[in-house]
Amino acid sequence: MNILVTGANGQLGTSIRNAAQQTLDNYIFTDVDELDITSREAICNMVKKLKVDVIVNCAAYTNVDAAEENTDAANLLNNVAVENLATVASEVGATLIHISTDYVFGGDTHNTPYNEEHPTHPTGVYGRTKLAGEQAVLRSRCNHIIIRTAWLYSPYGKNFFKTMLSLTATRPQVNVVCDQVGTPTYAAHLAGAIVHIITSRQLHKQGTYHYSNQGVCSWYDFAHAIASLAHHTQCTVQPCSSSQYPSRVVRPSYSVLDKTHIISTFGINIPHWYDALCECFHAHNTQESI
Ligand SMILES: NC(=O)c1ccc[n+]([C@@H]2O[C@H](COP(=O)([O-])OP(=O)(O)OC[C@H]3O[C@@H](n4cnc5c(N)ncnc54)[C@H](OP(=O)(O)O)[C@@H]3O)[C@@H](O)[C@H]2O)c1
Repeated sequence: MNILVTGANGQLGTSIRNAAQQTLDNYIFTDVDELDITSREAICNMVKKLKVDVIVNCAAYTNVDAAEENTDAANLLNNVAVENLATVASEVGATLIHISTDYVFGGDTHNTPYNEEHPTHPTGVYGRTKLAGEQAVLRSRCNHIIIRTAWLYSPYGKNFFKTMLSLTATRPQVNVVCDQVGTPTYAAHLAGAIVHIITSRQLHKQGTYHYSNQGVCSWYDFAHAIASLAHHTQCTVQPCSSSQYPSRVVRPSYSVLDKTHIISTFGINIPHWYDALCECFHAHNTQESI
């Protein structure tokens, strides 16, 4: 099987590169320099030339705050480019595995995990454009698997894990919000689930699925665990409220994803967020020492 990964230099794309090393399928990794997904023609040419069976879209406009100012750029990548991928997939009979976000939710007060049927209600440009991308996939009628994830982190790129490692190493105190709860997702685990779905040939089970690690924590809990595992004991991680950090984007106060559907459909095992963090820590330290 030929699998085209787009946005492959990002956190998730890099993690899929690692996870796919053990498989016999032919993975083709591209980022914007090799394949700019805002060009439908470029996608069509590559997909036809390489006889692509599956497209895994890891490209996105992921800067939630900057998206508020750059609506057109966010819409181009999160919606228009996704429509390009979906319509090409539909034309050639390929499957599209597309990654979306918990930010399609957030406008309601909710305190139980979101399942896939929960009404969407994005509160910012990032969430709205990602939801429009999901709708473009459904409209295209291509064979698809949409996976909504949340709080993605890894040893690669820019993310909360790496920011907290750096801040708690250099500052005496770091304030982190304790009134937004969710579940972090170790990108290697999501990558493993995606590669498992492809390798076990379960691509016909189309639909929308939720994936994060298990358990629940606040950003404060997550930051505290990162500082503890790093032995950054000279830094106090202090809980604070979101009102102390005014932002143009209203972030969901509760955004835990219910993973029942993806677990029962694909037979995957999802580790707890703290165990996942320990694994990421190990991977990060191994990478540093190379
Ligand atoms: N990060 C999170 O916390 C989070 C949370 C929930 C859901 N998600 C979703 O998870 C997925 C993966 O996120 P991630 O954190 O791995 O993203 P990422 O690290 O920001 O990677 C995205 C990649 O896409 C590339 N790209 C940008 N424009 C492109 C274009 N026109 N054509 C092809 N590639 C392009 C980027 O290149 P440049 O760096 O050069 O722009 C980057 O390498 C996304 O769909 C995201 O919405 C992420």
